Amino acid sequence: MLTHVGTQTIETERLVLRRVTPDDAEMMFKNWANDEDVARYMRWSPHGTVEDTRSIIANWCDGYKSAHKYHWGICLKDGEIIGSLSVAGIDEFDSRADLGYCIGKAYWGRGYTSEAVSAVLDYMFSRVGINRIEAYHAVSNLASGRVMQKVGMTREGHARQKYKGRDGFEDSDMYGITRDDWEIQKEIAYYNSLPVTFDGFIEVPMLANDEIYLVCTGKKEAIPAKKYVPAYDFAICKGGEQIGEINLRIGYTDGLYYGGQIGYGVDEKQRGHGYAAQACRLLLPVARAHGMKKLLITNDHTNHASKRVCEKLGARFLRVAPLPEWHELYQEGQRFENIFEWDIEA
Ligand SMILES: CC(C)(COP(=O)(O)OP(=O)(O)OC[C@H]1O[C@@H](n2cnc3c(N)ncnc32)[C@H](O)[C@@H]1OP(=O)(O)O)[C@@H](O)C(=O)NCCC(=O)NCCS
Repeated sequence: MLTHVGTQTIETERLVLRRVTPDDAEMMFKNWANDEDVARYMRWSPHGTVEDTRSIIANWCDGYKSAHKYHWGICLKDGEIIGSLSVAGIDEFDSRADLGYCIGKAYWGRGYTSEAVSAVLDYMFSRVGINRIEAYHAVSNLASGRVMQKVGMTREGHARQKYKGRDGFEDSDMYGITRDDWEIQKEIAYYNSLPVTFDGFIEVPMLANDEIYLVCTGKKEAIPAKKYVPAYDFAICKGGEQIGEINLRIGYTDGLYYGGQIGYGVDEKQRGHGYAAQACRLLLPVARAHGMKKLLITNDHTNHASKRVCEKLGARFLRVAPLPEWHELYQEGQRFENIFEWDIEA
C-alpha cells in the first residue's frame, strides 16, 4: 500500500527539486525544452515556442492537484531551473513505477542528474513506500545508462526496438532498483562510514581461553587496487594442534559488506564444539585496538552451521542479501549471503 505525498520539495547538496510553476516557462524553454539534442531521447518533440512550454507546465500544474503526481523541476540553488524528473506509470498493485529525466545541455556531465535521481529514489522508497522503480534508455544514450548505474540501479534486460527515435526504432537497456537494493545501499554507506584506525599492524597480544588459542600466521597489507583492507590471519589451535583458521579484516568496504570483517573455518573433525564462536571472541582485542565497534559476519544462506555461530555470538541478523555479480563470492558460485552485525562495543 503506497502512501502518496505528491511532489514535495527535496533539497540535495547542490540542488532544489520542486514543483514546476508557470513562472518557469521562459527558463525551461531556453534551458532544455527547445533543444533537439535533449528531446532526442525523450517522448516529446522540441518546443517551437515558449507557448508550448507554458501549455505543458499548465498540464503539470493541474497534475499537482493530485497527491499521485511526482514531477520535479531540477533547480540550482541560485534558482535556475535546469531540468525535470518524473516518476510516472505508478502501479499500485505491484508497487512499482517508471523513472524519467532530462537536463539542459549546458549542465550535462556535472553529476546533477545522478544527484537528483538519488534523492528522488530515496523519497519514493522512504516516503511513498514504493517497492520497485524502472527506467529504460536507448542503447546509444550512454550518459543516461551511466546515470542509472551511478544511482545503484541494476541492468536487468534489453528491449528490442523499444523506442522510435529520429533515426528510427532503437533498442533499449532496462534498469531496475528495488526497495531491498536501496536498503542495502544505505546499509553499505553506513558501514563504510564507521570509524576504523590503522597506523600499521599491532603487536598481537596473547589470544587464548581455557580451550583454544590463536596464533597469528600472517599480516596482509591492504591492496588498494583491489579494495582489499589490511588483514590478520590466525591459526585456531588446541593442545598444540591447528584445528582451524580465522581472519580479521581491518576496514569497511562495499565488498566486505557481503564478505564480512571476520572469516573462519574449523576442521571437519573438530566441528560441533563451539570453537568458531570462541575464536571470534578471542579476536576482539585486535578489532578494538583498531577502533572498530561493529563487525559484519556473513555466510552463504545455506550454511546453517555458520549462521549458528553468529547467533551464539549474539550478532544481529540484518538480511539475506543477493550477491552482486562483481563480487568474488558470486564468481565462486554463491548467490545469497546472510549478513550479521556483531556489536563489539559492549
Ligand atoms: C542523460 C542525462 C539526463 C544525463 O545528465 P547529466 O546531468 O549529464 O548526468 P550525470 O552528470 O549525473 O552523469 C552522466 C554520466 O554519463 C557519462 N557520459 C556522458 N556522456 C557519455 C557517453 N557518450 N558515453 C559514456 N558515458 C557518458 C558522464 O561522464 C557521467 O558519468 P561519470 O560521472 O561517471 O563521469 C542528460 O544527458 C540529458 O538530459 N540527456 C537528454 C535527455 C535524456 O536522454 N534523458 C534520459 C532518457 S532515458
